Amino acid sequence: MAFIEWKEQYETGVLGYDAQHKTLFRLANRIHECLDRQASGSELELSSVFGAFLEMTRTHVRTEDELMAWHHHEPAKSHEEAHRHFLEGLEAIADPSVENLSHRERLSEFLHKFKHHFEAEDEQTFLALLRRHNHPPAE
Ligand SMILES: [Fe+2]
Ligand SMILES: [Fe+2]
Repeated sequence: MAFIEWKEQYETGVLGYDAQHKTLFRLANRIHECLDRQASGSELELSSVFGAFLEMTRTHVRTEDELMAWHHHEPAKSHEEAHRHFLEGLEAIADPSVENLSHRERLSEFLHKFKHHFEAEDEQTFLALLRRHNHPPAE
């Protein structure tokens, strides 16, 4: 079973934004698989998937911060702060394949943090707001 599964309810209709979330899900699942697997070659794969996850996270938090500010989403500031902390922590891990086990453990922690952040009320409230904005209920 995948670490984190995409659900239709996560779609907001903002295509680029939804695509970023989907990419993050895909990469998080691949990292999770790499961490599970001890097969040769997985170190190299982990390193490249981690690089892509870090890059996508950088892009995504910028997009989401801007979208939240644009839509005057109430807790935008604290959400931005959570993004900053997450990104700093992720950057501090650097390349998880180079170092020892503790890097892998920290990476696993970050995957759970990512999942928690995405599923938490603040992010989900914003997704609902975008959905309403893009698909207003027909009357
Ligand atoms: Fe997000
Ligand atoms: Fe977020």
